[in-house]
Amino acid sequence: MDKEEKDTPGNKFVKKFPEQIIHLFVVFSVFIVGIILIRAYVIPARLKESGYHRTKTIEAELSFKGSYSESEVCVECHDDINEKKRNGFHKFLACETCHGAGAVHAENPGETSPPAPTGRVYCALCHAYDPARPTGFPQVATMAHNPMKACITCHDPHAPKPPEVPKECSACHGEISRTMSISPHVHLECVTCHTVPQNHKTTPRAKKPTTPENREFCGKCHDRDARVKGIPGVDMKTHGEKYLCWQCHYPHMPEAR
Ligand code: HEC
Ligand code: HEC
Ligand code: HEC
Ligand code: HEC
Ligand code: HEC
Ligand code: HEC
Ligand code: HEC
Ligand code: HEC
Repeated sequence: MDKEEKDTPGNKFVKKFPEQIIHLFVVFSVFIVGIILIRAYVIPARLKESGYHRTKTIEAELSFKGSYSESEVCVECHDDINEKKRNGFHKFLACETCHGAGAVHAENPGETSPPAPTGRVYCALCHAYDPARPTGFPQVATMAHNPMKACITCHDPHAPKPPEVPKECSACHGEISRTMSISPHVHLECVTCHTVPQNHKTTPRAKKPTTPENREFCGKCHDRDARVKGIPGVDMKTHGEKYLCWQCHYPHMPEAR
């Protein structure tokens, strides 16, 4: 080291700085040269493009031959299938969601026929259990749900149905029902407080039941002046005034402590 230092032309300059600074300087130089070399020789050119889209992606999209029609076009020749699909659970899925781009087929049916996704993998894209999906969206654990068989052996892809729509509220609202069954409200039916539209059970998220809106609702039974036999009453004017009753009492397990 000493020998080398004597030989270098910048010797005087170097002597001005403490050794640590010089070591740091060397480390940083190696680091920066390294980055420059990696950028120049290791990283492929397509990753260094600074535009919004990579050229390769644009080329791939442009070379895509298929083109889409609208479902109305498919219906002209396949109205039997549309008839089934129209009222089923898949009514909002376009034909080409599953069958792929079909414009070429629609113009000349004899020439090409669109593929049909008959395997389990495809249905799982939407129906495999995933906590990020909205509450109530029909999901199955694909590993456990009738494994080894194609989904379409049991479910018609154009009009899938679970074989039976549950009749009881508890089938879907198990936790609330269990909670209520050991609460002072055990004898109340769900529909005492919720008006439930006919098709809530088949399309739960589209058709929602009502929930009580004001204090007077609970007052029907609990207003002291109403004097309903066997039900504890409160003075509606002063008891928890300003607030909705269920801001203090969970309606499915009301407590008074
Ligand atoms: C001009 C009439 C026509 C239009 C429009 C049309 N098809 Fe077809 N499609 C046919 C005919 C004819 C067949 C062959 C029928 C057969 O083999 O039973 C067929 C067959 C199919 C098949 C079955 C392929 C197979 O291998 O069994 C699918 C899937 C299909 N069409 C989907 C579509 C979709 C999706 C659209 C809309 C993008 C569409 N069709 C538009 C006439 C049409
Ligand atoms: C959820 C995905 C899905 C949607 C949406 C869908 N299909 Fe299909 N389709 C399939 C599957 C899977 C098959 C294969 C069924 C089989 O092999 O038993 C199929 C089969 C077909 C066939 C073959 C003949 C038959 O009856 O099995 C035609 C024709 C067809 N679909 C047309 C359509 C049209 C038209 C639409 C839109 C109105 C549509 N499909 C929407 C999944 C779908
Ligand atoms: C692009 C997404 C998508 C794909 C792919 C798809 N589905 Fe669906 N599926 C839906 C939607 C959306 C509903 C309606 C959900 C609702 O009403 O809340 C539905 C409903 C269902 C239902 C009714 C279940 C219930 O309890 O309400 C069944 C069964 C079903 N699909 C089976 C299948 C099968 C089998 C396939 C493969 C051929 C398939 N799905 C492919 C989106 C999809
Ligand atoms: C052997 C027949 C069979 C096969 C194969 C099958 N299912 Fe099902 N599926 C059923 C039955 C029966 C039900 C209703 C009872 C239940 O929930 O288990 C059902 C229910 C469903 C539901 C509604 C679940 C809910 O909670 O609302 C969906 C979604 C579904 N299946 C999708 C699929 C998908 C996706 C596949 C393929 C990966 C598939 N099924 C394969 C018979 C089958
Ligand atoms: C097939 C399953 C199912 C059945 C049966 C069912 N529900 Fe629901 N219900 C749901 C789902 C799923 C939601 C959640 C919707 C959401 O979170 O977007 C819901 C939401 C609700 C809500 C909340 C509405 C809101 O504004 O958030 C009430 C109240 C309710 N259900 C009451 C009932 C009652 C009472 C019954 C029996 C008469 C019943 N449900 C039967 C599935 C069901
Ligand atoms: C004493 C009246 C009352 C009864 C009985 C009742 N509920 Fe409720 N429920 C309410 C009120 C009030 C709300 C609104 C709570 C809120 O907004 O915080 C509610 C909210 C709900 C909700 C949406 C919020 C949540 O907690 O998930 C569901 C689902 C629900 N009720 C289902 C049921 C079911 C199922 C039954 C029967 C087992 C039932 N309720 C019985 C008063 C009642
Ligand atoms: C249809 C009549 C009815 C309606 C409506 C009703 N309740 Fe009740 N409530 C009862 C009955 C019955 C009891 C049980 C009385 C008993 O056995 O002590 C009760 C008990 C209670 C209790 C007392 C619990 C305890 O530990 O003593 C509270 C708090 C309560 N309800 C709150 C509510 C709230 C909040 C609402 C509005 C969301 C409501 N109730 C709507 C009938 C009703
Ligand atoms: C600010 C919170 C709060 C609000 C809002 C509230 N309560 Fe209470 N409630 C309590 C507390 C705390 C108790 C227990 C102590 C007491 O009796 O004052 C209680 C007790 C009760 C009891 C039992 C009384 C008894 O004699 O056993 C009933 C019934 C009741 N509330 C109904 C209601 C109703 C109905 C509403 C809406 C009109 C309501 N509460 C609003 C806090 C509240």
